[in-house]
Amino acid sequence: MKVLVVGNGGREHALAWKIRQSPRLTQLWIAPGNAGTAEEGENVPIAADDIAGLVAFAKKQKVDLVVVGPEVPLTLGLVDALAKEKIKAFGPSKAAAQLEGSKIFCKLLLRQSDVPTADYQVFRDADSAMRYVKARYPNENEKTPLVVKADGLASGKGVIVCSRREDALDAIDRIGRKNEFGRAGLQMVIEERLDGPEVSILAITDGKTILTLPAAQDHKAAYDGDTGPNTGGMGAYSPTPVITQELIETIEDQILVPTIHTMKRNRKPFRGVLYAGLMLTQTGPKVLEYNVRFGDPECQPLLMRLQSDLLDILEATVDGRLNEIELPTWDPRPAICVVMASQGYPGDYENGRAIRGLDAAAAIPNVKVFHAGTTLVDGQVVTNGGRVLGVTALGSSLADAKLQAYTAVQAIRWPGAWCRKDISDKAIQYTMEEAR
Ligand code: AMP
Ligand code: GLY
Repeated sequence: MKVLVVGNGGREHALAWKIRQSPRLTQLWIAPGNAGTAEEGENVPIAADDIAGLVAFAKKQKVDLVVVGPEVPLTLGLVDALAKEKIKAFGPSKAAAQLEGSKIFCKLLLRQSDVPTADYQVFRDADSAMRYVKARYPNENEKTPLVVKADGLASGKGVIVCSRREDALDAIDRIGRKNEFGRAGLQMVIEERLDGPEVSILAITDGKTILTLPAAQDHKAAYDGDTGPNTGGMGAYSPTPVITQELIETIEDQILVPTIHTMKRNRKPFRGVLYAGLMLTQTGPKVLEYNVRFGDPECQPLLMRLQSDLLDILEATVDGRLNEIELPTWDPRPAICVVMASQGYPGDYENGRAIRGLDAAAAIPNVKVFHAGTTLVDGQVVTNGGRVLGVTALGSSLADAKLQAYTAVQAIRWPGAWCRKDISDKAIQYTMEEAR
């Protein structure tokens, strides 16, 4: 089977690494890939959002399956464009990808499906949004637990969580007047601010059958103790004690099943990965957002634990026969992924720093270093992004996996490299609190 993976992050390296283990694979390309994916297959210099370029390449090489990593090509309709050429692709259609591409689309669908989510209002201009906030919170100093969101994709930055009225008005100004998020901000959603621990649940679905993956937890804040600015994710681990089997069943019944069902009824069947970002509130789990792809870095520890053939699962999803394959098996051992980042990330940073110690890290048992922002320059691996590596390890316990991952982190060096030191500590704290 000839496979093309689209994207260039840590998630795509993990996908390429796992796909390469399939005995059914004959050829693997990654577009555009990074220095890590170059070791799993052949990188091709086509950008992930170059739909015409990707389709032309897949056609020319007679690719059997395209696996789309990031959301942008999905929302641009890559899967539809490939389908027109009779090329199979893993990921939702453009219409179904609206679940991530438009917060308004997502909210309407949640409402239609009776799925628990924060109450919200939609606004087309800043004036009416400001009037709404002022009418609802007439006292300037009153607490204002609102979240202001740009409707479209904004690399995770278009969501502003507010406490004071001033914050909400400022957020509306940034989205609706200063146009900080461009076209993504043409409309906005203002919703009530929810409270509780945040978890994510990922499921693979062919539009009928839902295969919920083991729970994984991301660490979105830049610094230890969940402080500092939001990032794409500074680390992840799986499984997490925060999500019990009982809770997974509740999430399936109240959230995933009705969502998939409504998408099908609306003639926008969802195929691919449905990633539910949830808040566990006092009144039960509520949806904060949907993503339509694997999370990055959640994908790295998940695939490290997957024992079954990923190609079989991806292909069955595309073919709509997920109910026919055997349930995947998972390594019972926990896995953790620690993201090593460039100095300055999530703000500005410089590229081109030579990375040392990758071989020493790779020699540590049960460790896999997934590349994210890296590239090859004259045979040397150099930094080429904010999130540079996802150092991932399996261990007999979470503490053991953590030790392995951080031992590998210590072997790797470049000027300005940094990481969070507390990835997975949440789980250990949580287990202690539960035991008390
Ligand atoms: P989103 O991209 O919609 O998941 O939002 C990014 C982050 O903003 C989430 O991971 C939450 O931490 C936070 N967030 C989004 N919506 C809400 C909400 N209604 N209440 C509290 N926090 C929220
Ligand atoms: N780790 C969060 C995301 O992929 O959006």
